[in-house]
Amino acid sequence: MSMPQPALDELAELRLSRREFITLGSMAGLSALIGTSLTGCVTAAGTASIKSGIGFRSVPLSSADTVTVPQGYSSRLLYAWGDPISDGPPYKPDASNTADEQALQAGMHHDGMHFFPLPLGSNTSDHGLLVLNHEYLDQKLLFPDAMETWTAEKVKKCLNGVGVSVIEVKKTGGNEWQVVRPSKYARRITAQTPMSIGGPARGNVLMRTEADPRGEEILGTYSNCANGFTPWGTYLTCEENIHSQFAMPSGKQNKKQLRHILRRTSGARWFEFEERFNADKHPNEFHRFGWVVEIDPFDPASKPVKRTALGRCAHESAYYTLAPDGRVVIYTGDDTAFEFIYKFVSRDKYNPNNRAANRDLLDHGTLYAGKFNADGTGVWIPLVHGQNGLTEANDFADQADVVIHAKLAGTQVGATPMDRPEWIVIHPTSGEVYASLTNNSERGMKGKPGADAANPRERNRFGQIVRWREAGGNAAATTFLWDLFVIAGDPMHAENEHRGNVKGDAFACPDCMQFAPDGTLWIGTDTSSPGRGVYANLGNNQLLAADTVTGEIRRFLTGPRGCEITGLSFTPDGKTAFLNIQHPGEFAEDSPNGRIGSWPSEDPAARPRSGTIVITKDDGGIIGS
Ligand code: FEO
Ligand code: CA
Ligand code: CA
Repeated sequence: MSMPQPALDELAELRLSRREFITLGSMAGLSALIGTSLTGCVTAAGTASIKSGIGFRSVPLSSADTVTVPQGYSSRLLYAWGDPISDGPPYKPDASNTADEQALQAGMHHDGMHFFPLPLGSNTSDHGLLVLNHEYLDQKLLFPDAMETWTAEKVKKCLNGVGVSVIEVKKTGGNEWQVVRPSKYARRITAQTPMSIGGPARGNVLMRTEADPRGEEILGTYSNCANGFTPWGTYLTCEENIHSQFAMPSGKQNKKQLRHILRRTSGARWFEFEERFNADKHPNEFHRFGWVVEIDPFDPASKPVKRTALGRCAHESAYYTLAPDGRVVIYTGDDTAFEFIYKFVSRDKYNPNNRAANRDLLDHGTLYAGKFNADGTGVWIPLVHGQNGLTEANDFADQADVVIHAKLAGTQVGATPMDRPEWIVIHPTSGEVYASLTNNSERGMKGKPGADAANPRERNRFGQIVRWREAGGNAAATTFLWDLFVIAGDPMHAENEHRGNVKGDAFACPDCMQFAPDGTLWIGTDTSSPGRGVYANLGNNQLLAADTVTGEIRRFLTGPRGCEITGLSFTPDGKTAFLNIQHPGEFAEDSPNGRIGSWPSEDPAARPRSGTIVITKDDGGIIGS
């Protein structure tokens, strides 16, 4: 249902008054509002004691083809597309590496990332495993002759160019880091790596294929966008836009396939030589992607597992916390216009003393979809077969059908359609959850939902960050209080609705987010056409730091031309930040190689390469201080 659109200054006022209410207001008032005890909820005193991590001077907006950080900081390239994971084949700048070589090298389009200290369970900040996603491919850059010919070998290189890297990294003195080569941990997980299926969809009729009649094993993962990790030392990679590789040439998609965006054809053209991506021939293969996948980076021989209890959608991130009773709670969102934010609560408790006991924790539990009410309260609605209309009469055969078609289940139960949820992160001490809603230019269009309280702008091109606190400070609670932390925008923009309410440096399209150990919220941006069109005043994509108490936001880094900023991960001491520069140089139809930049190369004719950079403070201090 469409709601009248409140003026931006009204929203800002609402935000501030709600903020005061949450941090300073009476506990009795809060309890009355959400009808539950707030025992254990972090109060104003707890929030106010958090040290602000913003001690740097903002860098200016930039349209240069380089990474810029504040004075007193350095950034260095660590691991770019094509670099060997271990002592394997070197990168060939003409893109002539074979498909088999690509399987031993960094994939393309680095995205979500996490630093795991070595050894496992330690808190070291100078040696660890860096695990990162390779979200998708620029197929024109992947081959010497772009896509002029199309062959099985090329499709194989595509399959090997996506997925996940596990690399070992070590500080080598001063602030320098390098990839350890060779390393016994080094591993590439690709769209061909065998992985098993866990949770309610395992073995279900909708998961069975000709190649896997039992519905228990899948080849590969791809479209790995943001990520998560667990307290038992595993990595969660999130399969996002998986529909882009499938095609149904007959055009006979049913309602469920259409909602999960199965199209008639695919520009990626994998299906021409990898038949499983042809949904006319293998319709159930489509159900085997769009999951959160758990990987043990400490055991290179381990088999990744698709955790179907967390639902199937265009997963962006999967961030964990623990309920007071030890159950694991994971937040994830569906980065598609008008899709939902989800929460999974495990059935069983985390065992901190026995790693193996947590192995299948994510296979059993309850999946919820979020409803954000206009009065600032919210409800988690269970997606459980037989409840809330998730019945056979409404075309949900069983719990497997519910999780496989989580988007339809969310609609059935009345969850709130959001403005493309991207990363979801949790404040390290307050437990407050922050979710970036990157943009949604379709909101308010004819036939689409209009503005609502959590998604307050029609034709929303700039995005916002919503946050919430679970009732009673219990992450497993089924009610919460929410407000908008910031409405992004350009204060110089001629159109009022594009201006936002940012206190500090303007930005657009929040995507990547991460809390530093000191409680500073870091925000990476992903405007689709940086420095152009509606984003003309905002330069290249950027990394900003936010003080969540004062609301101040400062620009820390600007990326090279055309890139998106993503994958931020800190060492436990907060003194090293790893960050991904994704799809630099993208796109310019009128330049010699179709690109607007060549980062990290200074040769303008070179292929641009996504890469991981390392950021340190020259005096060895905490990043952002
Ligand atoms: Fe892959 Fe939603 O970003
Ligand atoms: Ca993203
Ligand atoms: Ca994005």
